[in-house]
Amino acid sequence: MKQRIFSGIQPSGNLHIGNYGGAMKQWVQLQESFDALFCIVDLHAITVAQDPEMLRKRTLEIAKMYLAAGIDPKKSALFVQSHVREHTELAWILNTLTRNGDLTKMTQFKDKSGLDFENIESWGTKENLQQWKKEFNAVGVGLFDYPVLMAADILLYDTAVVPVGDDQVQHVELARTLARRFNARFGETFVVPESKVRREGARIMGLDNPLKKMSKSAASEFNFIALLDEPEKGRKKIMKAVTDSGSEVVYEDEKPALKNLLNIFSLLEDIPVDDIARSFVGKGYADLKRALSDSVANFLTRFQHNYFALSDEETLRVMKAGADRARTIASEKMKIVRERMGFLS
Ligand code: TRP
Repeated sequence: MKQRIFSGIQPSGNLHIGNYGGAMKQWVQLQESFDALFCIVDLHAITVAQDPEMLRKRTLEIAKMYLAAGIDPKKSALFVQSHVREHTELAWILNTLTRNGDLTKMTQFKDKSGLDFENIESWGTKENLQQWKKEFNAVGVGLFDYPVLMAADILLYDTAVVPVGDDQVQHVELARTLARRFNARFGETFVVPESKVRREGARIMGLDNPLKKMSKSAASEFNFIALLDEPEKGRKKIMKAVTDSGSEVVYEDEKPALKNLLNIFSLLEDIPVDDIARSFVGKGYADLKRALSDSVANFLTRFQHNYFALSDEETLRVMKAGADRARTIASEKMKIVRERMGFLS
């Protein structure tokens, strides 16, 4: 029996090759050895204001991106969170087991809201306290409650392993706490999940500034290569990328721009960086850039070939089939939960 994994991704737009190197590529690899459920978390997305038309568009877009990257619906269930109502139902029940203190300590809430409850003393003076109260009153309850919905996502499926970035480990920790709390109070019901932190070995940095992460909101579009950039444009962006001083192709921290180009090469070609660096011994930066720009153009061509072959209807059909599979598991679990909670059946 394969171990069950569950992971989620927010439907955000304009993904770039840095995003491909993160969750996307990892999921494609994980589906080979795990019983995988992958969820596009539109219910989490609405914890900050969303334009309905944009949300619909982005949800479909991200589904196509993951399919284009190699998520195989025969191997894993790829689905949209709001299609499986059990997520919201379990989130409500888990709310009643969650304490305010479980949530005020969440780093992501502190970052997003700017409210550090652990450190109220530092707010000091009266004006500060007034300001604090104003900010607190303005922050949405959904943002505060975000980790409880995430716990519900995970616990519904007897998830053993949760692949996440390191910023999400604390949230998985809450899922573990709530599983234990529920089990202690109502009887053994939920599997206590483990998080599996993505290796951040090869973070992809900006092409115009290799000291900062590649970002779609960077000032210049020459910072990033979007997955839907024209292949020729991707090629151009590599040719224009900044390089370090010197001319020898080496992989070392003192050459951050070069290191980044080699990391991108390694990501797209699935070859270890050392092997790539070795193949450029005796050659220079220009050779590396030429070869990498070919690799980028080929990658974008392949990716977009898959992406544009998917119609909206076909994609929706795949999402619905994924949701059906997920719901079969989730609804069985909710039957047990309802009965343990004392709800009339
Ligand atoms: N909060 C996660 C993120 O922002 C996304 C997410 C939602 C998730 N539900 C999940 C991840 C369940 C893992 C498991 O990246």
